[in-house]
Amino acid sequence: GSTQKEIQMSKETERRVGNLLNSSQGKAPVNDSDVASNQGAKQSLPNAKVANTVSTSESDLEKEIFSVQLKERQEKLKASNNVKAMQSFREKLPAFKMKAEFLKAVAENQVLVVSGETGCGKTTQLPQFILEEEISCLRGADCNIICTQPRRISAISVAARISSERGENLGETVGYQIRLESKGTVQTRLLFCTTGVLLRRLVEDPDLNCVSHLLVDEIHERGMNEDFLLIILRDLLPRRPDLRVILMSATINADLFSKYFGNAPTIHIPGLTFPVVDLFLEDVLEKTRYKIKSESDSFQVNSRRRRSREQDSKKDHLTALYEGVDVDSNYKNYSTTTRASLEAWSGALLDLGLVESTIEYICRHEGDGAILVFLTGWNDISKLLDRIKVNKFLGDPSKFLALPLHGSMPTVNQREIFDRPPPNKRKIVLATNIAESSITIDDVVYVVDCGKAKETSYDALNKLACLLPSWISKASAHQRRGRAGRVQPGVCYKLYPRIIHDAMLQYQLPEILRTPLQELCLHIKSLQLGAVGSFLAKALQPPDSLAVQNAIELLKTIGALDDMEELTPLGHHLCTLPLDPNIGKMLLMGAIFQCLNPALTIAAALAHRNPFVLPINMTEEVDAAKRSFAGDSCSDHIALLKAFEGYKDAKRNRRERDFCWENFLSPITLQMMEDMRNQFLDLLSDIGFVDKSKGPSAYNQYSHDLEMVCAVLCAGLYPNVVQCKRRGKRAVFYTKEVGQVTIHPSSVNAGKFTFPLPYMVYSEMVKTNNIFVYDSTNISEYALLLFGGSLTPSKTGEGIEMLGGYLHFSASKSVVELIRKLRGQLDKLLNKK
Ligand code: CDP
Ligand code: MG
Repeated sequence: GSTQKEIQMSKETERRVGNLLNSSQGKAPVNDSDVASNQGAKQSLPNAKVANTVSTSESDLEKEIFSVQLKERQEKLKASNNVKAMQSFREKLPAFKMKAEFLKAVAENQVLVVSGETGCGKTTQLPQFILEEEISCLRGADCNIICTQPRRISAISVAARISSERGENLGETVGYQIRLESKGTVQTRLLFCTTGVLLRRLVEDPDLNCVSHLLVDEIHERGMNEDFLLIILRDLLPRRPDLRVILMSATINADLFSKYFGNAPTIHIPGLTFPVVDLFLEDVLEKTRYKIKSESDSFQVNSRRRRSREQDSKKDHLTALYEGVDVDSNYKNYSTTTRASLEAWSGALLDLGLVESTIEYICRHEGDGAILVFLTGWNDISKLLDRIKVNKFLGDPSKFLALPLHGSMPTVNQREIFDRPPPNKRKIVLATNIAESSITIDDVVYVVDCGKAKETSYDALNKLACLLPSWISKASAHQRRGRAGRVQPGVCYKLYPRIIHDAMLQYQLPEILRTPLQELCLHIKSLQLGAVGSFLAKALQPPDSLAVQNAIELLKTIGALDDMEELTPLGHHLCTLPLDPNIGKMLLMGAIFQCLNPALTIAAALAHRNPFVLPINMTEEVDAAKRSFAGDSCSDHIALLKAFEGYKDAKRNRRERDFCWENFLSPITLQMMEDMRNQFLDLLSDIGFVDKSKGPSAYNQYSHDLEMVCAVLCAGLYPNVVQCKRRGKRAVFYTKEVGQVTIHPSSVNAGKFTFPLPYMVYSEMVKTNNIFVYDSTNISEYALLLFGGSLTPSKTGEGIEMLGGYLHFSASKSVVELIRKLRGQLDKLLNKK
């Protein structure tokens, strides 16, 4: 039956191919070179309009042949044993039962909302159902399915998973594209990309003409990019009646999205999960007999002042916790130790000892099965890993396999997390909330939930980003718990009391309400979506108008928007760089002022992450390494730069591993920075700021002149400026917005009594338990005057003011005039077309 059909189809193909000039069987009607040269960040998404150099009828024929070939190939692959085994796995997933209903709904509706418990097969199956259906119905050539993912790591792992389910190599029919990395060819029909990549794609293809089906995944997370995309899609739908949009959500708030799209139909995939037992802190303490000490070791600090402040907040917390609250009636029944422990417990702290004991308890007393531990961030993960290593019981590598999992982890070596461990070896995964919904580890039976996640918030009044571990929402807690019951009944160890759970918010605030909006505003402008305020008013939950105003003000200050809030040519350049606008501007200035290499390196570190690592109990050694890189520059950015240059030198001598080890640097981060530098260089050449044919020396005349490098840093980081003042013997720091701030202890500038220059520019200021300035660089008033943001003549006519009058510099009229002329010239260079 089917073999005969296949042969017939092959003959049919051959006949058609014979009519065409030189296409041969089994190859898509495209150039070889297109197929071969598709490994790189600049690859564009697959294009529905297949390269068209022949007449319309011939190109229709080409497409038809391509569709037939896709179908033949799919059927051939289906017959292989591997794929058959995969198929029987797939058929067991809850999503499989909904296949027909889902495909029907996709065919009949422009927008569809699908919800279902994590692991039911939304991400891996739904896009695949469409793909298979389109190919089977000989619409393969015209189908271009895109599925967006909020995170890089899930885009890759899902694309790889589907490829193996189909029996193909990654990058054939199914590919991925994330910043800096992509795998796919013009044959690719299903592409997983980060939401950010798709948003950038909209600049060239505002109607998404190259897309037939768009699946937006993990919308329940309410990430800023996803919320932004939803506004765009709602406006776009009337213009693209043939476009199919499928929104996928893990939790039960599907109604919200359905309403947003005019009551779009929803499909719920019922879960196939096993029951999960909930244990709260009180139960965990009884079981483990762990005694919480009043001083936790997780957020320990050196300064006496901070410690007392923390104790104060702890007291407040406990008061709030138990006073006037009807404490669980069980409470009385708990042992004295448990009660003492509960009283010592504070929601403000995370006790890693308790986490460790809980893991040990599970390993000693519970049956087989992987343990998934939710922690707040990399810091806790690496500390706990270190503790486990020296734990007499858990540290036995023949019995336990402890693995970290977090969002910015290198893209290699994640396989271990998904693989079943060897028999008699227990897998313990220490994860951030990335494992909550976007990544599924199958064999988890025990979940240990600390109940917190590091959450950013934005204080629009003080223009201040905040990052504090805070309680997760009930929806997240439910999500985390659900990870335990995937293969058999499971247990969720919640390391917080039941009353805390009852007090948790239903859902987390969407990101759009928790972050500064300048990058988003720039994006809105570059997509020509009209006035930022009125566009954002259409969001599911519109951001505060003050936050919008702050973003626009900042973009004006750095010269990306003009007084009419329209993009300047500089603004256009900054839109093409997938970077925070400040960092983008620093790159442009680096190219203009012949410090390209330092600018590339510093931009890469700021955009990705600091290459310095922090092994436990090594703070002093790490600080010493940083300070030796910084020399006498008073600059964390110069320290980064010198560390990277040292790494490059070491690499030339093939001793980069030793170099990294000796200097507390992450080779993976440094490698990533190297890749990013190359990508930035390409982008700078695309927008005409660098002519690559001239070679690197043409842009690096001042690369070793640190004063020049600091001036370029100032140009990029402005208006992130703090003033250094003296109070008695000490240096203290002030900003216009929030007054006194603290240099973070990890900075090379921390604890210094004096600075040679009166200002500091910084790349990040975050309120945690204090307002901290992270990486900073000491700069002069001349750097500010010549390279900083807009100047205004002072009211007296003598001198110049900056930062809305916060800084005042006296200068004679002629000097003021000269500075203005110089800056006018510089603006021309930045705004060249
Ligand atoms: O998106 P959703 O959470 O609904 O589920 P999914 O990511 O499509 O995963 C469905 C199933 O595929 C999971 O339960 C895993 O068993 C399996 N899977 C896997 O083995 N490896 C992956 N990289 C992804 C999924
Ligand atoms: Mg999913």
